[in-house]
Amino acid sequence: MARTLENLLEESKVKGWAAGEGTLAEAQLDAAFLGWTEVPTRRGGPPVSTLRPVEPAEAKPNSLSARYGMGAQPLHTDGAHLPDPPDIVILACETTSTTPTRLWNRQRYGHVMQWLPEHVRHGVFLISSGNDSFFGTAYAGGRFRYDPGCMLPCDARARQTAEFFAEVEKYADQYVWSEPGHVLLIDNRRVLHARASAVQEPQREIQRISYHLKREAS
Ligand SMILES: [Fe+2]
Repeated sequence: MARTLENLLEESKVKGWAAGEGTLAEAQLDAAFLGWTEVPTRRGGPPVSTLRPVEPAEAKPNSLSARYGMGAQPLHTDGAHLPDPPDIVILACETTSTTPTRLWNRQRYGHVMQWLPEHVRHGVFLISSGNDSFFGTAYAGGRFRYDPGCMLPCDARARQTAEFFAEVEKYADQYVWSEPGHVLLIDNRRVLHARASAVQEPQREIQRISYHLKREAS
């Protein structure tokens, strides 16, 4: 699938995400060819994660599953706790899944939104990252960073921002894993995503890998 990731990346310029036939292994080969760098979601962890619905007691600490279990997750970006979060997230499903992945970009607001509320740019969050914490906003440098699992609102504007992302979730698109062997490319800079409730599908299995796009040496 030498050109598949390139095609999906091109296609994602419209909505911030695109899906097509493929496997995770093919995506990895393609990404290597394109010079993308794998970004483990947890420091020192493997680049590929297998995502399964789990109850809070079985979940990794500070993960969304620890808080939401098998129920619907809130909109978030992946790797929000990292100083340099991934640009691209690839999800792959070998089989099918009746649990959709929700996808929201700033145009999904019920009407076309040309601007972002000021509080999204200025609300300050405390971001927990293992033993380190740092302050940041939910939108900076042309990219979103938001995960209510690891970002604690520190001021009124940040609290408004948390309410904003909860409110706009109803405008999210739904990607349904209706055909086996598909991959979903998400531009993690422009799109927030969420898993719908998986209570009815405890056997759901999705693989994930994240990347930094090739960056010009400075
Ligand atoms: Fe995620």
